Amino acid sequence: MNSLFDMNKEQAHSRHQELAAEIKRHDAAYYTHDEPEISDAQYDALRRELEELEKQYPELVSADSPTQKVGAAPAKGFAKVRHAVPMLSLSNVFSEEELGEFLDRIRRFLTLPENESIEIIAEPKIDGLSCSLRYEGGKLVQAATRGDGYEGEDITENVKTIKDIPLTLPEDAPDILEVRGEIYMGRADFAALNKVQEETGAKTFANPRNAAAGSVRQLDVEITKTRPLKFFGYALGQVSEPFASSHFEVREQLKRWGIPETAYTICASLDDLMQNYQSILESRPDLDYEIDGVVYKVNRLDWQERLGFVARAPRWATAHKFPAERAITRLNAIDVQVGRTGVLTPVARLEPITVGGVVVSNATLHNQDEIDRKDIRIGDIVVIQRAGDVIPQVIEVLKDKRAGDPPSYQLPDTCPACGSLAIREEGEVAKRCTGGLICPAQRVERLKHFVSRLAFDIEGLGDKIIRDFFAEGLIRTPADIFRLEEGNKASLTPIRAREGWGDLSEKNLFAAINARRDIELNRFIYALGIRQIGEATAKMLAAQYGSIENFIRAMNEAQNRESEAYQSLIAMDGIGPSMADDLLGFFAEDHNREVLQDLLSQVSIKPYDAPQTQGSPVAGKTLVFTGALSISRSEAKAQAERLGAKVAGSVSSKTDYVIAGEDAGSKLKKAKDLGVKVLSEEEWLSLINEKNQ
Ligand code: IVH
Repeated sequence: MNSLFDMNKEQAHSRHQELAAEIKRHDAAYYTHDEPEISDAQYDALRRELEELEKQYPELVSADSPTQKVGAAPAKGFAKVRHAVPMLSLSNVFSEEELGEFLDRIRRFLTLPENESIEIIAEPKIDGLSCSLRYEGGKLVQAATRGDGYEGEDITENVKTIKDIPLTLPEDAPDILEVRGEIYMGRADFAALNKVQEETGAKTFANPRNAAAGSVRQLDVEITKTRPLKFFGYALGQVSEPFASSHFEVREQLKRWGIPETAYTICASLDDLMQNYQSILESRPDLDYEIDGVVYKVNRLDWQERLGFVARAPRWATAHKFPAERAITRLNAIDVQVGRTGVLTPVARLEPITVGGVVVSNATLHNQDEIDRKDIRIGDIVVIQRAGDVIPQVIEVLKDKRAGDPPSYQLPDTCPACGSLAIREEGEVAKRCTGGLICPAQRVERLKHFVSRLAFDIEGLGDKIIRDFFAEGLIRTPADIFRLEEGNKASLTPIRAREGWGDLSEKNLFAAINARRDIELNRFIYALGIRQIGEATAKMLAAQYGSIENFIRAMNEAQNRESEAYQSLIAMDGIGPSMADDLLGFFAEDHNREVLQDLLSQVSIKPYDAPQTQGSPVAGKTLVFTGALSISRSEAKAQAERLGAKVAGSVSSKTDYVIAGEDAGSKLKKAKDLGVKVLSEEEWLSLINEKNQ
């Protein structure tokens, strides 16, 4: 290439064209697939060359030059959007039996008599990307991805290019209407897109889902515009005026307002549902879009509301997944991975094989018992299975294909990462590394967990980067993440100078980290990575203790198992003694306390944002239900939790109310002994209904 100063105007012109095209192509590779073909440093160099050229020859600056696009350089990422109503996920069933249990649970929760039928709407489960469309005054004002369910990404401009989606609604639509649905790509359109990608040398997509997601999550809206995307509506978010009393009515009304809808079937029994499932399964190959199951939803909206949600999924809906796909391949080796809490997990390395359109080369073997039970040995020919997003499994070994008598497999007695003893405690299935914090694998896994989506959610700190930064000593503990920028300023080898990095990606990384210096208490607790403390439990703890100071104080006090703090911890519904042991064990360790203190010097913790309990007379109160109520115990509990109350399993002096139904026994007595306020069911109902006046 000529140097800038050797070029004549004509050459400069043609180099400019070349560069602009190349940068656009790399933008596409980067934003479409999250899979750049060149390093950030190389990309930055291209942009700099372009900028230099334009400085020399200002006449080259045109409206569509990459230098004129949003800001100086495209920033990776979209603005965040907080969902007015969370966008949750679906539970799964895989068999008639599990489907029957789903229906039974609903019947029990609602205390419906055996002869009352539960109307269910069955609709296809199209695999794409979920999206919430928000209309205000009949106009599409915002479109957002699901994200972590509470906060998604603003993709309004991209979504406006999807022809299927109306930009305005008729006058009779509510003032505020959120339509949740799926953006997807049809089979034929997917094939055609991949053909074009192939011809133009661009990367092809593995499946229609990836193609849809990649096409929507484009900073360059022009690219989204060219992609054949479709949409169908499957649920509502926030709505200013209710307009339906059943899911059926919702779908029909949405259709009248111009929102695309798929076909659906109304079923009234398990038999109906199974028949419908069979017929959809049979028609699957003829559909012009790919589906991975059937979604069932309770038709009555008042029932949906009563049923509510458990953890991340509604009780009133489930997905009936199609049978998993299987394939036969060779198990070449067994590797051992060390998890965050030291668990050794054997992983099968397989001869790569395509299962349902996806190449599989690893499968989990779970633990030693599983290997023994299936008699899995290295070199075996095995049947593997892949169901949806679940990690592939080894189903069985084809024993007649076994060559000779290879030795049976035993997990090692020492940790492959740190060499510490690995032991399996009495009554446990897992073998664990005893190295604790000296084990680099555990520390890296903890860091990975710390930045993961439901924890600190730091974009840009992927698994590989964490591993590398840990190995180089840049990040050893969570607090180091927040000191990275400061240290980088003084560093002789700054991050931007590394292979695969550049000014832009360095800047973005620090921006992503700094954006998380304010973090919600529930995310913070979850991020600590304490054994057994998952996302839902972290949320319960955050709701119970409200602030980080209270939480830490309570954990310290509860070290004494005789204390009230301990009693109220284990009285929390869903926290048993074993979970309490893990939780308290974490706080008992000096090292953990140091890490925590260090971290608290870097971040500030927002008190837990309890879901929609404004004006609730029982928000933050601790209740105990006892005796027989007119609704099921699960419903009573769910209802109280929706109002921000905490439901405990046993009565203590911290209990605010005991709600006593018929035939209440020892808990009622204890409440009276302790002087805790006792309410009858009627008194309880009138208390919580006050807020609706
Ligand atoms: S209902 C609270 N209905 O599947 C309601 N979801 O695995 C939750 N999906 O996140 C969603 N087709 O992206 C619903 N007919 C359908 C669906 C559907 C596809 C997707 C959706 C959801 C995911 C859950």
